[in-house]
Amino acid sequence: SVGNEPGRPLIHLTPNVGWMNDPNGLFYDEETSVWHTYYQFNPNDNVWGLPLYWGHASSKDLINWENHGVAIEPENDKNGAFSGSIVVDRNNTSGFFDNSTAPGQRIVALYTEQSTVGESQYAAYSLDGGYSFQYYEQNPVLDINSTQFRDPKVFWHDETERWIMTLALSQEYKIQIYTSENLKSWELQSNFSHHGILGYQYECPGLAKVPVVHDSPSNVTVSNNNLTTVDHKWVMFLSINPGAPMGGSFNEYFIGDFDGKTFTADDAATRVVDMGKDFYAMQTFSDAPNGDVIGLAWASNWDYSAYVPTEVWRSSMSLARNLTLRPNSPNPETTQLALYSEPLIDYSALSTNQSMRKTSLELSSEETVTYRLAKAAEGLLEFSLEWKVNSSALPSKHEFADMSIYLRGVEDDDEYLRLGYEVNAAAFFLDRGNSEEDFVNSNPLFTTRLAHFIEIFRVAEDGLPIYKVRGIIDRNIIELFINDGSLTSTNLFFLSEENYLGIVELSSNVDDVFTILNFEVKQLGL
Ligand code: FRU
Repeated sequence: SVGNEPGRPLIHLTPNVGWMNDPNGLFYDEETSVWHTYYQFNPNDNVWGLPLYWGHASSKDLINWENHGVAIEPENDKNGAFSGSIVVDRNNTSGFFDNSTAPGQRIVALYTEQSTVGESQYAAYSLDGGYSFQYYEQNPVLDINSTQFRDPKVFWHDETERWIMTLALSQEYKIQIYTSENLKSWELQSNFSHHGILGYQYECPGLAKVPVVHDSPSNVTVSNNNLTTVDHKWVMFLSINPGAPMGGSFNEYFIGDFDGKTFTADDAATRVVDMGKDFYAMQTFSDAPNGDVIGLAWASNWDYSAYVPTEVWRSSMSLARNLTLRPNSPNPETTQLALYSEPLIDYSALSTNQSMRKTSLELSSEETVTYRLAKAAEGLLEFSLEWKVNSSALPSKHEFADMSIYLRGVEDDDEYLRLGYEVNAAAFFLDRGNSEEDFVNSNPLFTTRLAHFIEIFRVAEDGLPIYKVRGIIDRNIIELFINDGSLTSTNLFFLSEENYLGIVELSSNVDDVFTILNFEVKQLGL
C-alpha cells in the first residue's frame, strides 16, 4: 500500500514515489470486485518527465489503495506511454484472449505512444486481469502522422455493437470519433470541434451515457424540453489546458445525443465539471456496476503541479464520484439538466474518531463558536453545513457580509483554510492562502481565493433561501459538494508537515443574517 509521510492524503490515491498526472485505464473487475486505476507516472523523479509510464493501483473500496508499480512502458527512454483507457473485451473481439481468461478480465488498453516524431495510438492487453501487459505486435493501431493526436477513451456502444474511440486533435480543437469491430482497426466517423472554452488545447476527451435522475435533491422536477421521458443523455467530457476560467487546467462538458457516429450537443453552453483549481483530466470507469458513471480526476493543476511542496510523491487523484444528470434550477419550467457529483466514500472502511453537531444556531458578530477536533488529529475531516440567509437584516448593501468557517491547524493555528458564504455576491468562497508560506508566496498562479456563485438550494417556510455544502478534507485537499453536488470545487492546500486541520471556528461579521440549520463535523480515520 502507499506510504504514510506527513501530509500525504489518506483516502486519495497518491503514487508511492515519483510523479503522477492523469488517471488512465480506469476499469472495474467484476470477477474480483476490484477497481483498477492507472495513471501517468514518472517513477524516476517528482516532476513530469520522459520516459513516462502507466503506474497501476487497485482498490476494493475506492479509498484504500494499493500501488503495483509500472504497468505499461513506452517503447524507449525518449518516449512516453501517454494517457488512454482500458476496456473489458468480454467477447474477445480483439482475438487477444482464449478461454483461459475470464470474460470479465479480458483487459485491453489503448493509449498514446508519444515519440520524438509524433503521437500515435497503441494497444496492449493483459492476461492476468490488468497486472501485467503484452504489447500488440502490430502497433500502432492508429496513426495519422500528427504530433497532437492523443488520449484515446474507448467504450462499447450497445446500440451499434461496436467500439467507439474519442481522442483529441489537441491544437485543432477537435475531438475525433472513431469506430472499430476489433479494437485494432479504426475508422473515422466524425469530428466534434470548437466547442466550449478552447484554451490552448483539447486533451482527454471522453463520452459517457449518463443516467438522468428526475427528482433533484432540492425537489425540483423537470417539466420542460421533453426531459421528463429521458432516462439518460450522452455527455462529452473534455479537458482544457491552459485556459481555464479560473486559471490553468479544467474540465468542461457538453450534454447531447450520440448515434454511434456523431455526438450532437443540445446547446452551445459551456459547463464546468468542477469549479475548483485542482480537478483535471477526469476519466470514467469502464464496466462500473449497474451502468453507473464513475469519474476520477487528477487533483492538481498544470499551472503549479511541479512546484507543490511534497517531495517523495507528487499529486493525488480526486475521490471517485458518481455522476448523474439532474435538474439544476428551482424553476421547473425553465430548468435544464446539469451534472451532479457525489463522492463515493465507503464509510464502513473508515472510523469516526470524533464528531460534533449543531442545529439551529444564530450567528452574531459578537461571538465566534469554536470546536476542537484535535484528538489524534489525522487531517481527515468531513463536514456538512446548511444555512439560511435573511438579507433584509443586512446593515448595508455595500458591506462584505459573510459567514465564515475557519479550519485551523492543530499544531499551528496560524495556518488555516477559510471558507464560507458572502451574501451580496451570493458566493461560496474559499481562501487557501494561509498555508505553507514559501510555496504560496513564490507561486502567483496558486490562486489563493476562489468564489463560486451558488444557487438557492431550497426555500424555507418563511420564504428565506437555504444553501447547503458538504466538504471532505484529506490532509492537503478539500473537495466541496455544494447543493448536493450540482457544483463542486476541488482544491489543494498545503500546511506545514505534521500540522493538520482540526480546530473549527464559525463566525460572522453581521448580526441576524445567518441561521445555521445544521452543522456537522466529523474527524475520520482509516
Ligand atoms: C493531460 C496530458 C495528456 C497527455 C498526458 C501526458 O494532462 O497532457 O494530454 O496524454 O497528459 O502526460
